[in-house]
Amino acid sequence: MNEQVVLVTGGAGYIGSHACVELLQSGYRVIVVDNLSNSKIESLSRVKQITGKTLQFYQADIRDKKALAEIFAKEPIATVMHFAGLKAVGESCEQPLNYYHNNVYGTLVLTEVMAEANVKQLVFSSSATVYGEPSCVQYVEDFPLGAVNPYGRSKAMIEDILRDLSVADKHIQTKSPWKIALLRYFNPIGAHESGMIGEDPNGIPNNLMPYVSQVAIGKLEQLAVFGDDYPTRDGTGIRDYIHVVDLVKGHIKAIDALESEKFSLGGCKAYNLGAGRGCSVLEIISAFERVTGRKVNYRVAPRRAGDLAEFFANPELALKELNWKVEKNLDDMVADTWNWQSKNPQGYV
Ligand code: NAD
Ligand code: WQD
Repeated sequence: MNEQVVLVTGGAGYIGSHACVELLQSGYRVIVVDNLSNSKIESLSRVKQITGKTLQFYQADIRDKKALAEIFAKEPIATVMHFAGLKAVGESCEQPLNYYHNNVYGTLVLTEVMAEANVKQLVFSSSATVYGEPSCVQYVEDFPLGAVNPYGRSKAMIEDILRDLSVADKHIQTKSPWKIALLRYFNPIGAHESGMIGEDPNGIPNNLMPYVSQVAIGKLEQLAVFGDDYPTRDGTGIRDYIHVVDLVKGHIKAIDALESEKFSLGGCKAYNLGAGRGCSVLEIISAFERVTGRKVNYRVAPRRAGDLAEFFANPELALKELNWKVEKNLDDMVADTWNWQSKNPQGYV
């Protein structure tokens, strides 16, 4: 068992809460810092119920340097998993300053406090959004970056900051160099198989899977399929959907890699976390209907501005260097989404 202490920023959120389960089940001690701006404390009670283990929770904003420094002074933190951030693309176009302040400035404060506490192992939640519009639909880590909205640019800026930090550190040949994994998620969906934790979006969901499941349960009337005239196999958009439990397992593998010989001199490296295959919107709907036996009422609507026809991950680097690949398939993702949705029709109330 591993007694190492991991600080999870944003640990009460969708992906962070699943990471807490995986960390606790792998024997890590977990400390969560979350300001609960987009989550409920109930998610952490559920994490404790699933694992039968406890964790330490601090309700704090990562931009509050004093609060963070106090936590680092009190707790023997070895690694930080940094999920805290705002993530809605449309909202980021309306409130860019809020997104840059929360995501970029928040990460600056976090890394300053980490440096002062000499905690220099970091796993960061990046996104496939940083790629922008490459010419090839299967994204490789060394594609040029070109995010097209403030949310994506906030992630790209953070990646740049973390790379600069790592390079500067190597220059001064420190004994404990920065070791940083930038994990570029594709489209996380699904929920823990217990159905006790899952995605609980505020208001009307922006993303496909929570929208589909809320239509199936009768909370929403009809799904709009954004475009059926893309140059794809059935005309609808294709994405690389990844089960959230597979995704968080990739984070544990990233810690293992940061502690291995490969990172002995430090470094900052990006890894795609995706399945390496895409599913269309119509394929998601039909899998949902088949697996759950529920009808998904939908209509075809115009394309959504800013959407690409198709992209998915090339996950070979994560397989080679993190020894990670997805284990769950689309039916698992649908079944677990539905299990969570039907057991918690109103989310965490
Ligand atoms: P989420 O909103 O469910 O979780 C984020 C958590 O961070 C929330 O609990 C929120 O309260 C907290 N938080 C936000 N700002 C904070 C701050 N300043 N201080 C402290 N806590 C703060 O989102 P998620 O889907 O779990 O995403 C987690 C991370 O993964 C985010 O950084 C997101 O950008 C990234 N990501 C998500 C997806 C996705 O599709 N869900 C895809 C790629 C990357
Ligand atoms: C998937 C497909 C839509 C809703 C977003 C962010 C990205 C990342 C993941 C954080 C597309 C179609 C959707 C609907 C639909 N998040 N769709 N009707 O756009 O690939 O990625 O979430 O980093 O940054 O942009 O995901 O789930 O919104 O859309 O037809 O009501 O479903 O057009 O083809 P997307 P999504």
